[in-house]
Order: sequence, then structure tokens, then C-alpha cells
Amino acid sequence: MKEKGFLLITGGAGYIGSHTVKKALEKGYNVIIYDNLSTGHRELVAGGNLIVGDLEDENTLEEEVFAKFPINGVIHFAAFIEVAESVADPQKFYFNNLVNTLILLKIMLKFKVKNFIFSSSCAVYGRPQYLPIDERHPLSPINPYGNTKLAIENVLNDYKVAYGLNYVSLRYFNAAGADESGKIGEWHIKETHLVPLALETALGIREDIKIYGTDYSTPDGTCIRDYIHVNDLADAHLLALEAILEGHIEGEVFNLGVGKGWSVKAVISKVKEITGKDFKVIEAPRRSGDPPILIADNKKATTLLGWRPRYSLEEIIASAWQWHKKLRERG
Ligand code: UFG
Repeated sequence: MKEKGFLLITGGAGYIGSHTVKKALEKGYNVIIYDNLSTGHRELVAGGNLIVGDLEDENTLEEEVFAKFPINGVIHFAAFIEVAESVADPQKFYFNNLVNTLILLKIMLKFKVKNFIFSSSCAVYGRPQYLPIDERHPLSPINPYGNTKLAIENVLNDYKVAYGLNYVSLRYFNAAGADESGKIGEWHIKETHLVPLALETALGIREDIKIYGTDYSTPDGTCIRDYIHVNDLADAHLLALEAILEGHIEGEVFNLGVGKGWSVKAVISKVKEITGKDFKVIEAPRRSGDPPILIADNKKATTLLGWRPRYSLEEIIASAWQWHKKLRERG
């Protein structure tokens, strides 16, 4: 196998990060994982070299990572992700998602590491003005989380122009599912996402699941989202990295979604069907800040990166179900 060099994956002990670490190892990269384990889990790291540290700790990042290993690419997942928390405590998000990314970029530039893949989000678009959402859609985040992602996207473009940084920003839609190995999956201590919450209700960990809003202007009145399997996301990161390492791309943004929408009610009935469990569903008021419909136009990623999302909603839920059952057994 061709020598792939050293790849730094920040947040590699987290959900999407751990799936990307696994794929990168399978592809022959030497992987260094940098994670402070504040929301990640050591058990999710499939291999590579885990260095526990904070991004704000410049010395550790510099001396234990960049000075020790010939890093030639960085995939940056480490960030806070919860939208509601970002509204309640924006400072926490601006420091971690924005300032700490600037620190990482500063050290990269110091060590002349110029290939960067960034975890962005469909939250950069705000409320959709048209559907499906393509990358030319106006950028107008409606919460601090989205603001931090957009700010870094702008930084990356400026650094490309000034310092020759090569980057790809990947705007995820709704990540869900788990690796088929059953060894890694979604593991948030404070879970807020629909699929894992519905599965935890099926497992009896929760008494019920709430549907936040049944009066949206959608066919069944509930919000529609584009659910994308975490391994499809992981594939896209490595395709994006290869594209910049091979010089095909210098600075681009891509939407990562399937291009199909599922309502909250549809997801919950699929969860019931696949798990074979019935559980209590409560119709609750709208959650603030939820756009009625988010669906990606993924043509740019399929065309320029050769990316093909492979998993159906059924496969997303079935793989996540296997994972959540194991996580439950683990206690
Ligand atoms: N929902 C429920 N009940 C729940 C949890 C969620 O009805 O218990 C609904 C939400 O209201 C929403 C849908 O299920 O309509 C999906 O909600 P998630 O919390 O799973 O995901 P979001 O669409 O809110 O979040 C996603 C990404 C974020 C991103 C955001 C942009 O996970 O990173 O889209 O709007 F910022």
C-alpha cells in the first residue's frame, strides 16, 4: 500500500470522528487522534495513537503532535454540537469552536501543514429559502452554533488566499446510524437527537419520546430532515482529503446529505417497525429554532468527490439499533 503519511484527527473519540478514524486506518493512514474526552470516549477509538489533550493547550498540541509526527493532513471534528446549548452559553461555543480552531490552524501553519478538512453543518444556511439546499444557498445561521461554523468557513477561505491553506468544509445534514461492526456508534451523555432518543425509548431507557411540533406545513405536520449514515459521512471526509492531497481541490464546501427527507413521525414509525417495539409517543409543542424542512442537494459532492451515500433510512436505524443494544448491555 502506498505510504499515506500521518493524519491528525481532532475529536476522533467522538461520534463522526471515531467512524472516520476507523476508515482512515483501513485505508492505510497513520492516524493520530487528539481529543480531550470531554464528550468523546476512549472506547470508541478503533486504533491509531490517541493523545488526550485540549486544543487550547498549545504546548501539548505542538510538542506532542506536530513536533513528533510528520502530519500532512488534519480532519477537525473537535467541537461542541448542541444548538440549544449554544444559545444558552454562546461563549462556550465561540471559545471552543472558533478560538480553538484558530489555535489549531496557527500551529498547522507554523509546521507548514496545509491540508484541512472541517466539520461544518447545514446550520450555516439557517432557515431554507428554497429546497433542496445547494451550496449556493444564502448563508444565514440562526444560532451561535451555526455562527461558529460559518465563521470558520470564512477563516478558511481567507487563509487559503493568504497562506495557501487547502481546505474542504463539509456541511453535514442529520448524521445517524452506526458502524456495522457494532463496536462504535453514537454515544452522547446528553442526547438530544431524534434517532438515538427513539431507540433509547424502544429499549425502555426512556418512558416516551416527544414529537416537537405537529403543526408544520409538511404532509404529516412534523419536521422533515435528511438523515445520512455516519459511515457515508466518514467516506466523504477521506474522499475530500484525497482530493486535496492529490491537488484536485484547493478550497471547497460540500453538502453531505442523501437528498431525501423523512418526517419525525416517519422516523419514529420506522424505529418501531425495525425494533419490533411499541413505545409511547407524545405530541409536544415546537422546539424553538427548528426549520420545517432540511434536505440537501448533494450533486456537488457526488460530482466533484465521486461520493455516493450508500445507506437507506432502514439501514441507518437498524445499524444504530444494534449499537444501542450493545451500549445498553455495557451499562
Ligand atoms: N425531534 C423530536 N423529538 C426529539 C428530538 C428531535 O421531535 O426528541 C425532532 C426535532 O424537532 C427535529 C428532528 O426531530 O425536527 C431532528 O432533530 P435532531 O435534534 O435529531 O436534529 P436537528 O435537525 O435539530 O439538528 C441537525 C444537526 C445539527 C444542526 C441542525 C441544523 O444535528 O448539528 O440540524 O438545524 F445544527
